Amino acid sequence: MQVEQIEDLSPYLADLTDILVASVAAGASIGFLPQLAREEAENYWLDVQKAVNKDRIVLLLAIENGKAYGTVQLVPCLKGNAEHRAEVHKLMVGPRSRRHGIGHRLMAALEHTAWEIGRTLLILDTRRGDVADGLYGRMGYTRFGIVPAFTIDSDGTSHDTCFFYKHLTPAK
Ligand SMILES: CC(C)(COP(=O)(O)OP(=O)(O)OC[C@H]1O[C@@H](n2cnc3c(N)ncnc32)[C@H](O)[C@@H]1OP(=O)(O)O)[C@@H](O)C(=O)NCCC(=O)NCCS
Repeated sequence: MQVEQIEDLSPYLADLTDILVASVAAGASIGFLPQLAREEAENYWLDVQKAVNKDRIVLLLAIENGKAYGTVQLVPCLKGNAEHRAEVHKLMVGPRSRRHGIGHRLMAALEHTAWEIGRTLLILDTRRGDVADGLYGRMGYTRFGIVPAFTIDSDGTSHDTCFFYKHLTPAK
């Protein structure tokens, strides 16, 4: 398994669509409500491709034997006073591939990439109590706030969201 920065996601479109649809079906809080239609998921990835083309998103995939098992996005801030800052979006590993260290490897690779392009302050958020909440804390991210009822499920249940930051430092 290796983590690669991808410019052309078309060879992985079906894998990424599977990962997104399955993650949403399994209850992930990543911006979509279940049941997410395949076509909508595919269209989402086609929009990501456009953003990659414009250097608005750096897309990383965890790949083995030509198949993608997980993904994460680095979204550089475009503001003049924030050229050192980027957001982390859509960390996802297919439900059947979880708990093998892929999520951790994606985040480690993302930090390496962020450092290489001069984005030394990372901002991210996640639903309170999710696996990612613990993962980010253990990876050195500082939780700086919780917004109550940040997301609302289709049945009306609301969830708090935790916001984190991390200042990257040179590798020792
Ligand atoms: C969050 C996610 C990417 C983690 O991927 P993963 O490949 O399973 O993660 P890893 O195997 O690298 O595990 C990372 C850490 O989380 C822990 N972990 C993973 N799954 C866990 C679970 N179900 N329960 C408790 N701990 C868990 C691991 O023990 C590991 O701990 P460590 O940091 O102390 O080593 C994956 O669960 C996922 O895709 N979730 C749905 C999407 C989502 O919520 N993304 C976050 C959006 S902000």
